[in-house]
Amino acid sequence: MSDPLLIYGATGYSGGLMVEGALARGLRPIVAGRDETKVRGLAERLGLEPRVARLADTAALDAALRGVRVVLHSAGPYYETATPMVEACLRAGAHYLDIAGEIPVIEALARRHAEARRRGVMIMPSVGFDVVPTDCLAAHVAARLPGARRLVLAISGLRFTSRASAKTAFQHAFDGVRVRRGGQVVLVPWGELHRAFDYGDGPRESIACTWGDVGTAWYTTGIPDVAVYFEATAPLRMLELAGRYFGWFLRTPLWQVWLKAHADALPEGPTEEERGAKGMVVIAEVEDVHGRRVQSRLRTPEAYAVTGVTGPAVAARVLGGDF
Ligand SMILES: NC(=O)c1ccc[n+]([C@@H]2O[C@H](COP(=O)([O-])OP(=O)(O)OC[C@H]3O[C@@H](n4cnc5c(N)ncnc54)[C@H](OP(=O)(O)O)[C@@H]3O)[C@@H](O)[C@H]2O)c1
Repeated sequence: MSDPLLIYGATGYSGGLMVEGALARGLRPIVAGRDETKVRGLAERLGLEPRVARLADTAALDAALRGVRVVLHSAGPYYETATPMVEACLRAGAHYLDIAGEIPVIEALARRHAEARRRGVMIMPSVGFDVVPTDCLAAHVAARLPGARRLVLAISGLRFTSRASAKTAFQHAFDGVRVRRGGQVVLVPWGELHRAFDYGDGPRESIACTWGDVGTAWYTTGIPDVAVYFEATAPLRMLELAGRYFGWFLRTPLWQVWLKAHADALPEGPTEEERGAKGMVVIAEVEDVHGRRVQSRLRTPEAYAVTGVTGPAVAARVLGGDF
């Protein structure tokens, strides 16, 4: 007997990790996706119920969501996949969760909040590494300094990326860096925001990057100025240089095709051994109008290992009525 939890995109790298994570919690999710052979193969291997539907096929998607209370949507890129699944969840009266880190998608989903409430369901994007640990830490420091006006997050230890995450990043990486100012998401040029953070062994230079918390932290904390930094590793410095001097060129359709083809040649994601390797450090700092600052630091496992745990954990809480 399946639980009324459907993981769509279960045949993908992160979907697979979240199916494993759900099983480890004693859940029996329905596994779903668009490719019948892959979905049935996965379901057979794990003894789970398969459901197959293309996102563009409304009738098939409605049939796939029959009896489902929570959808954990793990098929990205979300700028292509979020809308049809949210529409289907609203029609079906099912809660919608995803692991999107794309700020325009998060903003578009936030605009559906009132409609979701009317239908008695929740829309909650970004239940993966981006943004669960950072969002929890942001909420923690915001509670320590009520009235804070500025939130800065910093992340160290991101060494691996899945093929799909790289493709999603290339889509917007060369526009500039998205930050929130006065409650609005704005673009600043690459290279404008640098700062040192102590991740545990002295100050490390860090570079502001586009990351999902710029979308979500506003809804969690109400703090109007948000920026997210990453430790300045050699690949990140290269990305920054590319964005700064060749951004206009790398945004052209021909280069986008080339970059995405290059991403296709990457491994699907970190191996089990890599996921078990050194973890991440996350810092959250808030500041109020008087210049008072509060900072907290959190250590987590490797990012994809976190996603495999947090997605199913949030789904389990929603299934249990906590929404
Ligand atoms: N928030 C976070 O921390 C976090 C962590 C990991 C990943 N992500 C995001 O999650 C998404 C998936 O990542 P991944 O590493 O799992 O990618 P992946 O291994 O390439 O898997 C993508 C999955 O999505 C499905 N899919 C793609 N486009 C689709 C469409 N138009 N209709 C239906 N299904 C579609 C694929 O189906 P087929 O197998 O049929 O192609 C596959 O099952 C990406 O957007 C990534 O950026 C976020």
